[in-house]
Amino acid sequence: MEIKAPRGTRDILGEEVALWQHLEEVVRRNAHLFGYEEIRTPVFEHTELFARGVGEETDIVQKEMYTFTDKGGRSITLRPEGTAPVVRAYLEHGFFVRDPRVRWYYLGPMFRYERPQAGRMRQFHQFGFEALGFQDPACDAEIILLAWTIYRELGLSDLSLELNSIGCPLCKPHYVRRLREYLESRKDALCENCKRRLVENPLRVLDCKNETCQAVFREASFPSIQDFLCTECRRHEERLFSLLKRLGIPFVVNPRLVRGLDYYTRTVFEVKVHTLGAQDAIGGGGRYDGLARALGGPEVPGVGFAAGMERIVLLLERSGFPRKGTFRVYLAPQDEEGEKDLLALSQVLHEAGIPFCLDFASKNLRYHLKRAQKMGVRFVVIAGEEERKNEGFSLKDLVSGEQMLLSREELLGRLRKERETC
Ligand code: HAM
Repeated sequence: MEIKAPRGTRDILGEEVALWQHLEEVVRRNAHLFGYEEIRTPVFEHTELFARGVGEETDIVQKEMYTFTDKGGRSITLRPEGTAPVVRAYLEHGFFVRDPRVRWYYLGPMFRYERPQAGRMRQFHQFGFEALGFQDPACDAEIILLAWTIYRELGLSDLSLELNSIGCPLCKPHYVRRLREYLESRKDALCENCKRRLVENPLRVLDCKNETCQAVFREASFPSIQDFLCTECRRHEERLFSLLKRLGIPFVVNPRLVRGLDYYTRTVFEVKVHTLGAQDAIGGGGRYDGLARALGGPEVPGVGFAAGMERIVLLLERSGFPRKGTFRVYLAPQDEEGEKDLLALSQVLHEAGIPFCLDFASKNLRYHLKRAQKMGVRFVVIAGEEERKNEGFSLKDLVSGEQMLLSREELLGRLRKERETC
C-alpha cells in the first residue's frame, strides 16, 4: 500500500520553501527589533495544561486535541496553540520572581483535529508573541503594532483589524448573565450545540458559524459587551484605541468578537483578510491576565498574538511574491579529470560564498545543460580536455547562450559580479 501524508498535513518543498524562509526571516528580524527573544517549548504537553488553560468548554479542548496516553499512563496532548505552554514555562522557571517582565516569540507546528480545507490544517504552523508581566494597554498596542508591522512588511493588503474587550472577572459575569437571558429568549433559533453551550458558557455561543445563530447575533437588540464594561476595563480600552489611532493602525470594534479560547480578559483582536474565504483570520490574540493563575501560578498579566503561517504563505503565493533569485552555478564535468578540477574549484567557490551544484551522474554536456536549465540555473562551468589545455574553465550563460574560456581568477571575478547583480 502506498503511504501518504496523513489527512490535514502536508509536505513543504520546492519553491514554496523560499516563501516560508522569507516569512520566518521577517518574523525573526522584527521580533529582534521589538526586543522579543525566542522561546522553544515542547511539541507535546500534559493534557491538563490545555484543559485548564484554553478552557474545558472550547472547541479546541472538546473536539480538536490530539490526545493520547503514553507508555507511562500519562495523558499527553500535541500542542494546539502556544500561549498556555509559554505561560507554563514562565511559571516553571520562576520568572515571576527573578525576571517578571519577559517578551518572547515562537515559531512552530501546532495540532488541531479540524475538518481540513484551504487554509485549515490538522498540523499547521504559527508564529506568536507573548509579553508577560505588563499590565499597561501600551503593551496591547505594542503587540498589535508588531503584528501589523510584520503583515505590512510582507506586503499583505486588505487587512482588517477587529477589536473588542471581553471585560474582567468584575464586569464579564454581568454581561454573561444578560447574554444568557437574551439567548434563552431566542433559543428556538439556535443550533443544538449553542443550546447546550448556552447553559455552560454562553460566550462560546458567539463562536458559532451557523447562519441562523449568526442572524440572532446580528439583531439590533443583541446585548453588546461594550455596554457592560467596568470603569477600569473601559479606561484600558479607550487608552488602547487612542494609542492605535496615534500609530495610524485602522481598526473596527466588533462587540461579538470573543475568540475561541477561554483565557482572554479585556482586549481581544483578530486580523482578517476577506479574500481568504471562510478561513479569513490570519492572526489573533489578546490579553490573558488570569491565565497564570488558572495554571496554578501567581497573578501575572499577559498579552500576546499568534498568526497562521499557512494562510500567510497562501496570500504570498497569490500575490506572486517575488522569489529572490537564488544565485547558483552548475558544474559540468566532461571527463574524470574535469571532475577533479571541478571538485577543487568547488572548494574555492565555497570560500568565496558562491553556491554551486556538482553532478557526477554523467560526463555528457547535453545532459548537464538540460539539467541546469531544469534547475533554473543560469551559469554552467564546464571542465574538459579543451579547458585543461588552456588551464581554465568554460563559462556558459544559458540566458544569452554565450560561452567563453576563462582563467580561474577571471571566472571567479565574473561569478562574483553576476552574483551581485542577481
Ligand atoms: P487562534 O486564533 O486559535 O489563537 O490561532 C491563531 C491563528 O492561527 C489563527 O488566526 C489562524 O491564522 C491560525 N490557525 C488556527 N487554526 C488553524 C488551522 N487549523 N489551520 C491553519 N491555521 C490555523 C491562538 O492560537 C492563540 N494562542 C493566540 C494568542 C497568543 N493569544 C494570545 N497570545
